[in-house]
Amino acid sequence: MLVTGGAGFIGANFVEYTAQRHPEYDIEVLDALTYAGNKTNLAALADSVPLYHGNVCDAALVDRLVRRADVVVHFAAESHVDNSLHDPSPFLQSNVVGTFTLLEAVRRHDRRLHHISTDEVYGHLPLDPSLRFSESTPYDPSSPYSATKAASDMLVRAWIRSYGVAATISNCANNYGPYQHVEKFIPRQITNLLSGSRPKLYGSGVNVREWTHVDDHNSAVHLILDRGRLGETYLIGSGDERSNGDVLGIILDLMGQPADAFDHVPDRPGHDLRYANDTTKLRSELGWCPQYDDLGAGLAATVDWYRDNSWWWQEAKDAAEARYRLLGR
Ligand code: NAD
Ligand code: DAU
Repeated sequence: MLVTGGAGFIGANFVEYTAQRHPEYDIEVLDALTYAGNKTNLAALADSVPLYHGNVCDAALVDRLVRRADVVVHFAAESHVDNSLHDPSPFLQSNVVGTFTLLEAVRRHDRRLHHISTDEVYGHLPLDPSLRFSESTPYDPSSPYSATKAASDMLVRAWIRSYGVAATISNCANNYGPYQHVEKFIPRQITNLLSGSRPKLYGSGVNVREWTHVDDHNSAVHLILDRGRLGETYLIGSGDERSNGDVLGIILDLMGQPADAFDHVPDRPGHDLRYANDTTKLRSELGWCPQYDDLGAGLAATVDWYRDNSWWWQEAKDAAEARYRLLGR
């Protein structure tokens, strides 16, 4: 199995999950080790999982690695909306050209591909619990990030239809868990508090996300690899929708802080109001069920992880906060 982006947050958790629970796979990782990739995420597996430091846009390298794999799981991407608003260019390269490069290699060597995508491709929803995204919701991305993920999904769909590439796609809701980069909402607030800074809430904090533990995302990916129908898209999400203000309230409480110990900062331009996935297809066809059904407990474990691993995030934190200062957030 070739895992692209395996030194990032979800990819590294996927590699660890696969090594522990799916010994049938020999795993290789291709990762450009951008600011978001960290080879220490794979340190425990360094002897058994080779890490190739390279770019998914490098056609010769990608060809060589895909040729000797049976299955490719494609996580590599620029992943942060705020960064895409500041400079979309690397998102076009990694997310669009990178996926195209991988698709061409998969097509040449007739390999099985699973493409990891996001619910953000569908745009956003009003605060009406009766409305959810489904696999047939029209694409309507808001940010440069989600537009490039939408483009990458479209490429995969076209390569399936035109060339018969053996691929599946999943579009997951927001993930949380260990190894998430400190630029993202939950780790940013936890590490702000651990560093003696105040959490930062965009706008009024009413925006809603469907928080899904990274291991639940990865268990769904394995079900799709094992039993998913080729050519199909599957939505993934816990069903646990929370406003940003509510999630921050839980974090403040877990960390012994008063409920008002945070700052409102200017809102993200084009800020999507709500994401929510209808996961009936994944649950009924493949029997998926999330194991992490208590967000409070999941967040408590996440707080503990960041508290115990400041060596892992400190340098990245300084760099991320410097980027946020430029954005005024
Ligand atoms: P991340 O930013 O933590 O990790 C991305 C990894 O990809 C990093 O290791 C980085 O070095 C690598 N990478 C970036 N560009 C590359 C390139 N051109 N060539 C090779 N490697 C490259 O991201 P993440 O949160 O782990 O997200 C992984 C995937 O999951 C992405 O495709 C993202 O769109 C998708 N996704 C993320 C979430 C979420 O909540 N984080 C939810 C749904 C889907
Ligand atoms: O829905 C899946 C997507 O989830 C993935 O495709 C993306 O890769 C991933 O980054 C995530 O995107 P979001 O934009 O939803 O996540 P982020 O962690 O950046 O922000 C979550 C919410 O919190 C969002 O409404 C913005 C808000 N926010 C974020 C930060 C960093 C704040 O209020 N304060 C902050 O400091």
